[in-house]
This record gives sequence, structure tokens and C-alpha cells, in this order.
Amino acid sequence: MSSATGRFTVLHISDVHATEEGLLYGTVDGVGRLERVGEYARSVGMTPEAVVITGDLAQRGHPGAYPAVARACDRLAEIVGAPVFTVLGNHDDPAAATALPRHRHGHIGVEHVEGYRIVRLDSSTGSLGAEQLAWLAETLREPSESGSIVALHHAPVESPLPSLSTQGLADARELLSVLEGSDTRAILAGHFHHSLTASLGGIPVFVGPSLAYHQVMDAGPDTVAGHDAPMFSLVQFTALGVSAAAIGLQSPPPIFSRPLTHRAVPLEKADHVP
Ligand SMILES: [Fe+2]
Repeated sequence: MSSATGRFTVLHISDVHATEEGLLYGTVDGVGRLERVGEYARSVGMTPEAVVITGDLAQRGHPGAYPAVARACDRLAEIVGAPVFTVLGNHDDPAAATALPRHRHGHIGVEHVEGYRIVRLDSSTGSLGAEQLAWLAETLREPSESGSIVALHHAPVESPLPSLSTQGLADARELLSVLEGSDTRAILAGHFHHSLTASLGGIPVFVGPSLAYHQVMDAGPDTVAGHDAPMFSLVQFTALGVSAAAIGLQSPPPIFSRPLTHRAVPLEKADHVP
């Protein structure tokens, strides 16, 4: 937890869909957008303690994209001054993804940052499976100082979109049975390409929006369509709880702007909590 802000902040990115060459759908430069997230964070003074990217790092059929993704992650880590942790999604190529830092010897792992335990899972097949769930149970057996944050691609909850309603994690019930009673403070996921706040047995689930494209939410039950609306999230853990805010990488012009007349005070430091 940052002593300066009283928060532990995770910059949560998902669904980058980087390509080997050219632009995805003639529009999306995934690696370039990772760099723009870093520039955005630097320009507004964001100081996350960790960056978590929840899968679909490269577009399916673009295994040659991983070295560029790895370099972009390194640059992002340098710019924001925090480690970058990645998990695989259904578009990712497990063999080619070994080019990524922390993936050379497997796609799951445990990271410790300032008392928080960040657990990286592999749901690239759409489920976790008994072996990985057993590993997770053993990993979480002893609580960590500030709690655990579980990162995976497939959200263990349903999307409200009819076209995605069955696209969540296949073994969500089994994941819940492992996480119940553990020190897990939040689950970070992606895959839906729209943000979603949910709960798995009382554990907050934050589905991050996509850096590549956002679902067209009224496309209808038989259609999947995307807007060019790259987004990421800030997930903030405090002594009082946890929150997530989705942030657009493209800022439309403001409809008003005026100076702030009061000084912001962190909630846990305020004298009165209404
Ligand atoms: Fe995706």
C-alpha cells in the first residue's frame, strides 16, 4: 500500500489483441495502445503499485506479436514504475507466449507486491481444470499480509449480453469452492470487452474493458460487434474496501471545465464518512 496515497492501486488492462503486423480490423494497434496507456498514466500522475493485463495479449493467429508485447510491457513498467503481470486468454498462443517475461516456464504464478499476493491463472482453454484449481487451493492455504488478488481471463460470472451469456469461465463453481474462505480480496478478469462489476460468492469481480475494442451493447443476440473505444481500469484497494473505475484512452472534448474549489481528502482519512 502506498504510504503517500493510502491505497494499493492496480492498473488493470485487458484484451490487447496485438497483431504481428498491420492493424486489427484496420484500426487497432494493440502494442501502440499499451504505450499510450503508459503515456496517459504518466501525464495524469498515476502511480499504480502493479499493472495486471488479463489476457488476449495477442490476436489469434499472430504468434509473432509476443516479442513486441513483451517490449511494450517492459516500457510500461518503466514508465509507471511498477511491475507488469500478464495472464493468457483464449486468443493467446501458449507456446509463443513463452516469449513474455514470467511465462518462460509456465503460464501461472504468484507475485508479491507490498503485502498483496497476486495470483496469475491460465484460463486460455475456457476453464481452469482440476490440477490448476488444486494448485490454487494450495497457494491460498496461508493468508498473505494484505490479501490476494486473483487474475484470469475468463470472468467467473455471466455477461448481461445475450451473445456472451455463456462465455464466462466454465468451472466458475469450482473456482468459488476454492476461493471461499480464502484471503481473496478481488478477482480481475476480462474477455467480455465491456466492463462489469459482479460478485462471486461475495468476492468482488472486476471485469476490465478492452484496450482493443468495446462491445456494441445493442448489437442484438445474434451479432458480435465492436466500437473503437479503448479503455482500461484503475482498481484501488484501501483499508475500507476496493473500487474499480473504467477509463477511456480517448478523451472526447469536455462539455464544461472549471477550477476545483475544495481539496480532495482520501475517504479513510476524512473526519466524517456519510
Ligand atoms: Fe478479447
